Amino acid sequence: MKRGSVFLLAAAAVLSALCGDVAAASSRWGKDYFPNTEVLTQNGETVHFYDDLIKGKIVLISFIFTSCTDLCPLTTARITQVVDRIQDQIGKKIFVISITVDPENDTPDKLKAFADAFYKGPGWTFITGKPDEIRAINAKLGNKSEVATDHRNEIVLGNDSTGEWARNSPFADIENVELAIRDMDPAWREGHYAPAMALAPATDHHGLKLEREPGQILFKKICAPCHTVGVGDRIGPDLLDVTVRRDRQWLGQMIMNPARLRAENDQTLADLDAKFKGVRMPNLGMSATDTADLISYLAKKSAEIADLRAQPEATHVHDHEDTTAHHDHGSTDNP
Ligand code: HEC
Repeated sequence: MKRGSVFLLAAAAVLSALCGDVAAASSRWGKDYFPNTEVLTQNGETVHFYDDLIKGKIVLISFIFTSCTDLCPLTTARITQVVDRIQDQIGKKIFVISITVDPENDTPDKLKAFADAFYKGPGWTFITGKPDEIRAINAKLGNKSEVATDHRNEIVLGNDSTGEWARNSPFADIENVELAIRDMDPAWREGHYAPAMALAPATDHHGLKLEREPGQILFKKICAPCHTVGVGDRIGPDLLDVTVRRDRQWLGQMIMNPARLRAENDQTLADLDAKFKGVRMPNLGMSATDTADLISYLAKKSAEIADLRAQPEATHVHDHEDTTAHHDHGSTDNP
């Protein structure tokens, strides 16, 4: 059996275990299952939940609230990574919907600021609306908690056309989430299924040695959705040389408990907040050991990049010498 089908079966089992009532009541989630109530998008448009956002589409649905200081920014950043990998389909066959679990406070404007911090392209809609109606939609998707902070950090994947629905975790390997959402498309399952690609371990050109470092593993999973080292600002600032530009104690506090730094009106953080609008560095529950590993990884990676950057210059000087030699050689030949 193809791995995709095994995955779907496993996901379906989880789904029916989580909401047996739902699965029993309706053989498929569809027109008669989802509310078609009016909801508001981050752009202030009014749309119908089922007709405009679900009908005939493959969707990835997440649950967020904009004042969330821990997991929702990370969940959303990880979905941004998935979206980066499905550029060929996003806004065409595959759509992302992020539903607030705090409709009382999340106005379209707040959703817009949050959304813009993560993604500016087509195919991703953030929605809010009348609290009762939004809660009814959340409940249909298995998200029944009354308190925003209790909401599930899961995502729901579905294809309205085939009636296949599954739960997934935004903290699974991004490659697997990509595979799971693509797998919702029967055409992709038929023609483009490439198990080797999906099963290949994630590698980068730094090889296995660095990959085994605890700091690198943590960084890749928890920080890389928002930060790069040396590839520019993303959702958060580029962390190249951050161990040089900030002192260790501040860095430690920033990684372990940015909320406390913010509460203390730390000026450095206030400046960063002003630059990175709509999203805050979340409290990610990093221990002192995790933090030390991360700082050591950041220092090492920055040094490695400095070395690499020093090399092209050396090559350039070398090229230049070659050209000069060639030129000299030519000029002696010519006359
Ligand atoms: C959801 C996105 C997100 C995630 C995940 C995240 N950060 Fe951040 N980070 C930010 C933002 C945004 C800022 C800018 C400060 C602010 O506005 O809160 C920031 C700032 C920082 C800074 C200060 C940078 C500077 O220039 O001084 C450090 C250090 C940092 N993050 C480290 C980490 C580490 C390490 C992890 C992983 C454990 C991580 N971050 C995970 C969004 C994120």
